[in-house]
Amino acid sequence: MRLVFATHNAGKLREVKELIGHKYKVIGLSDLGDHEDIPENEPNLEGNALFKARVIWNKYGTPCFSDDTGLEVDALNGAPGVISARYAGEARDPQANMDKILSALEFEKKRTAQFRTAIALILDGKEHVFEGIVKGTIATQRQGVKGFGYDPIFIPEGHNRSFAQMDNAEKNSMSHRGRAISKLVDFLI
Ligand code: IMP
Repeated sequence: MRLVFATHNAGKLREVKELIGHKYKVIGLSDLGDHEDIPENEPNLEGNALFKARVIWNKYGTPCFSDDTGLEVDALNGAPGVISARYAGEARDPQANMDKILSALEFEKKRTAQFRTAIALILDGKEHVFEGIVKGTIATQRQGVKGFGYDPIFIPEGHNRSFAQMDNAEKNSMSHRGRAISKLVDFLI
């Protein structure tokens, strides 16, 4: 069965294809020649994931899913959360985003945080939402150069290296997105 993943991000598409395996043929929006940038204006991750999946369902009537992720820092009352990509401004600059978190926590002892991913699937017109969480702490400075986004400042629980010091396979084995995708796969198979 063909499943459309509502993303233009080639890296995410590759990661998800690896996790889902061969039973489903996962294709991205670019594979459909669709370059629409779907807005993420909802008040929470689930809302954004559902909105994006509904746009694709309404357009193509084909089974589809989408995801939205946020970094939730306890000492910042869950911020940046749903605005993680734009935390330091519309430029969506990961370096500026990390600097903003590091300064906000400069004198903070409580550094716990979590990454949370919501995945929305629409199959036969029915909506399903899956959540994946990884808990951890915010480092006092960047560590490592792998990964993307907030990876250099996020140290998953039970480890002393950041996500940016792990290779993809190690990160995916415990990551928010990996966990949400596992739930999606368990549901589909
Ligand atoms: P999106 O929902 O994947 O677009 O991600 C929203 C924001 O969270 C962006 O700023 C991403 O860089 C960041 N983000 C998402 N997933 C990860 C991750 O696995 N590691 C680090 N940052 C991430």
